[in-house]
Amino acid sequence: MKLSDLKNTRWTLDHPELGTGPVSIDSYSSPEYFDRMREKVFKQTWLCSSKRIDEIPNPGDYFVENIDIANASIVIVRGMDGVIRGFHNVCLHRGTQLVFDSYGSVKGKFTCIYHGWSYSLSGKNVLVTEKEMFFDPDHIEADLIPVAVDVWEGLIFYNLDPKPKETLREHLGNELMDLYGSYPFEQTTVQLSYKADLPCSWPVLRDSQIDGYHLKYLHRRSAPGFMESEDAPSRHAYDFKLLGRHSSGSFYGNRARIGADLSSAAPITALASRVGQTLASDTASRVPLEQWAPGVNPTKSDNWFFDILYVYPNIHFIFLGYDAYIIHKMMPGKTYNTSTWNARYFGPPVASSDLASKWAAEFMKVSLRDLWREDGNTTLGAQKAIDSGVFKKMYLQDQEIMIRHAEKILNDAVNS
Ligand code: FES
Ligand SMILES: [Fe+2]
Repeated sequence: MKLSDLKNTRWTLDHPELGTGPVSIDSYSSPEYFDRMREKVFKQTWLCSSKRIDEIPNPGDYFVENIDIANASIVIVRGMDGVIRGFHNVCLHRGTQLVFDSYGSVKGKFTCIYHGWSYSLSGKNVLVTEKEMFFDPDHIEADLIPVAVDVWEGLIFYNLDPKPKETLREHLGNELMDLYGSYPFEQTTVQLSYKADLPCSWPVLRDSQIDGYHLKYLHRRSAPGFMESEDAPSRHAYDFKLLGRHSSGSFYGNRARIGADLSSAAPITALASRVGQTLASDTASRVPLEQWAPGVNPTKSDNWFFDILYVYPNIHFIFLGYDAYIIHKMMPGKTYNTSTWNARYFGPPVASSDLASKWAAEFMKVSLRDLWREDGNTTLGAQKAIDSGVFKKMYLQDQEIMIRHAEKILNDAVNS
């Protein structure tokens, strides 16, 4: 498909419920909105940890998730029976945090540092130290408080609601699962993880990774020439889909040309893309497009750069090829104008003996770092403008439909 074939397309007009007017910024600016969002969204929606089951392969392997907006910390652990479970990271004696490392492994039980109470990996209290000194020792109910955990395609999700109102599969929806369920997530390994605490509201951060519009402007130095299209200069998207609460977009790119052109502005980019997986690698030449998951590069266009799958409320998958993708996890902080961004890149495993691929993987790390620093930088100025009160509404063009949709879905949930 060519971008010029889409000359008269206006995706937003196909969804009249979204409107076309300026968009208010309550969710970016209001502490009251933030309080309602805590209760209506983050304490009762399935949230993706962005971790995979193979990151905690053995009994006792665990990781900790901090959900600052809910003042919650949870530990997700693989049990002796191989089952992955979640618990509030709280000792039931006097509320001390049970686990402190972000990742770790224990031998069959968690032990609290304060007075030594212990818990099995299935959450059962197995030791109250000096038990005889308690007053009704046989009636101490001190099992860990469970958190609902479920897995889709190897990705671990959790829900802080003690009784989730829907299953993870109901939350994702059949359409999303049909489009992306056959993606070879299991053939990839995590190759880098960056984290940043930012003084901006969570929606500002969410929006920083949800449009293709900004790439040829903001990233003109770090990704030169990637998105310019002489065919249709003011278009960058081949496709958008609204998938219930979620959405997807597919974007034009000059990957093949950049990879082929060693005399371009960034010859090192071309070189790295030939020997490993980078932003310019043409994975379609390695795995034919018809074998890709139907949701990725859905128009099966030759000049394709990447797809975004936004999973409500706070996850963006950026598909970069047949088996390379990024997960951005955008978490609100403790206050409306703070947030935490964790970006993780997954790709095909790189053999340690393959020096060329290892070099390309290092090149990919610094490429993404440069891109993301540019994105992160924009969030700071935006929040200042919002908090000053001078900036009151956003004008969104047709190809920013994913922001318009995400904001409507969020407002509907928060104001319900
Ligand atoms: S608070 Fe954990 S054992 Fe006392
Ligand atoms: Fe960006």
